[in-house]
Amino acid sequence: MSYDKAYSRVKGFFGNEPNEILKQYYAEMDIGRPVLDIGAGQGRNSLFLARRGYTVDAIDPSRVAMETVANIAQEENLPVGVCQCGFETFVPQTDFYAVADRTPRL
Ligand SMILES: C[S@@+](CC[C@H](N)C(=O)[O-])C[C@H]1O[C@@H](n2cnc3c(N)ncnc32)[C@H](O)[C@@H]1O
Repeated sequence: MSYDKAYSRVKGFFGNEPNEILKQYYAEMDIGRPVLDIGAGQGRNSLFLARRGYTVDAIDPSRVAMETVANIAQEENLPVGVCQCGFETFVPQTDFYAVADRTPRL
């Protein structure tokens, strides 16, 4: 199923705020490592992280989603690479991505 129609119709289809858990714990991630956002959609998580200094690879098969993220990243000069593809075919340009280097306090 393509999300193109939904993303064309509604600007923040899944909301404009980032995921609540990400918002709470993102600082646990090593800012020196890139982040991979699989199924990035309209970029609420990718852009949140990029605005806080993380380098992000955002991937999603939706053309509308990836155009949206690429345009915002360009406008704001954010370090977001986009790939209009699924995780099955994505070829990372890095050997590693950011991980939480401590167990989050839940
Ligand atoms: C429920 S939405 C979540 C979007 C975004 N992460 C958010 O929270 O706003 C799931 C997303 O996964 C994408 N998707 C579907 N199949 C995928 C695949 N094989 N690889 C990567 N992303 C995929 C869809 O296009 C859609 O944008």
